[in-house]
Amino acid sequence: MSTLVPAPTGPLTIDALPSSTSTAPSPIRVSLVIPTRNEASNLPTLIDQLDGLLSPVLGDRYELIVVDDDSPDRTWEVALELARTRPQLRVMRRQGERGLSTAVIRGWQVARGEVLAVMDADLQHPAEVNLKLLSEIDSGAELAVASRHVVGGGVSDWQMSRRILSRGAQLLGLLVLPDVLGRLTDPMSGYFMVRRSVIAGVALDPLGYKILIEVVARANVRWIAESGYVFREREAGESKVTSAVYAQYLRHLLKLRWTKLGGLRFLQFCVVGSSGVLVDTALLYLLSDPSTLALGLTRSKLVASETAIVSNFLLNDLWTFRDMAELQPGMRARLRRFVSFNVICSTGLLWNLLLLNLMFNVLHMNRYVANLIAIALVTGWNYWLNRKLSWSPLTVGTDRDKG
Ligand code: GDD
Ligand code: MN
Repeated sequence: MSTLVPAPTGPLTIDALPSSTSTAPSPIRVSLVIPTRNEASNLPTLIDQLDGLLSPVLGDRYELIVVDDDSPDRTWEVALELARTRPQLRVMRRQGERGLSTAVIRGWQVARGEVLAVMDADLQHPAEVNLKLLSEIDSGAELAVASRHVVGGGVSDWQMSRRILSRGAQLLGLLVLPDVLGRLTDPMSGYFMVRRSVIAGVALDPLGYKILIEVVARANVRWIAESGYVFREREAGESKVTSAVYAQYLRHLLKLRWTKLGGLRFLQFCVVGSSGVLVDTALLYLLSDPSTLALGLTRSKLVASETAIVSNFLLNDLWTFRDMAELQPGMRARLRRFVSFNVICSTGLLWNLLLLNLMFNVLHMNRYVANLIAIALVTGWNYWLNRKLSWSPLTVGTDRDKG
């Protein structure tokens, strides 16, 4: 009877491989983790498919690691039975820690491969796409993602509600973490391969389902490749995605935003932004309220916002980004920062106007509540772009995504 792999505990960090040299590469090329929760009826089919696909290409240089969270249907026992005749199959049964993302990472922690991979157990991810992902890695990509939203991709007959939820979650992610989700066409994908060297030593700290966002946000991934696939209907069992998973997703985005932004600086940016809100709102009142000058809403908003932008720039340059501004002394550099800040915030203003008019004229919300919500949503946009384009010392272009 094959035995269970002990589940690691402690920090969610993946070790580098012992230095495999070009003459003696690691015996395992690909470690494919398959997280399971009540997949006893799907797993045998998937393992058969993977054996048939990977053995001809990789021989015995691959391993499959089932990480089961103590499923009531005893998936781990089914996996152990399968492992009796498949030396490539390893099984972990977790009885304390729970959750899809941590299951994947614990599987990668016991993995011995140069390439770490993950896919679902429920046959919704076509097994043959693994070969496409591996050829992208062999071509030099550091991360190869199976995407539903590139040529050859799609979802089978998902209900409209699930499609809207999935796309809505993606749009929200783009607003909060444009620098991460903007690099992927399918950031929700749970089907990808990543070079171990890229995530070795990185402290991962995911929440919920979205392990891909965690990897792209925390690791230094330069070349991302994507391959299209059609997300299939489940044949057995049911999805474990609940509304709690969406709430966890939002918390995960905000946690990553805070970490990536360098929390304190983002807090300072928000304090300055709040002072700008006071300037903006006070002027919006003085200019547009029926009891004062009663000028047109948009005209008033433009004047109020531009005044707030100038005030915010000065405070950010002298406080929030002081350290970065001091690396670029002189009036010309400060003017360049001001112009860049103005362009970015003006673009944010367009977002703001769009959202304000949508909420005020279409959703008939109170103009001041609508204004505050619009400003909050645009703050993430403004901060990220300004930090990257206005205050980062001018550097040569950074690595590009190749897709
Ligand atoms: N170990 C473990 N623990 N596995 C889990 C858990 C858990 O808490 N929850 C789910 N799984 C396993 C399931 O058994 C399945 O193999 C896989 O993770 C996906 O779970 P589903 O519940 O089937 O998710 P989905 O099909 O609705 O969504 C999947 O596909 C989307 C598109 O790729 C997930 O992978 C989403 O993250 C992904 O966006
Ligand atoms: Mn599924």
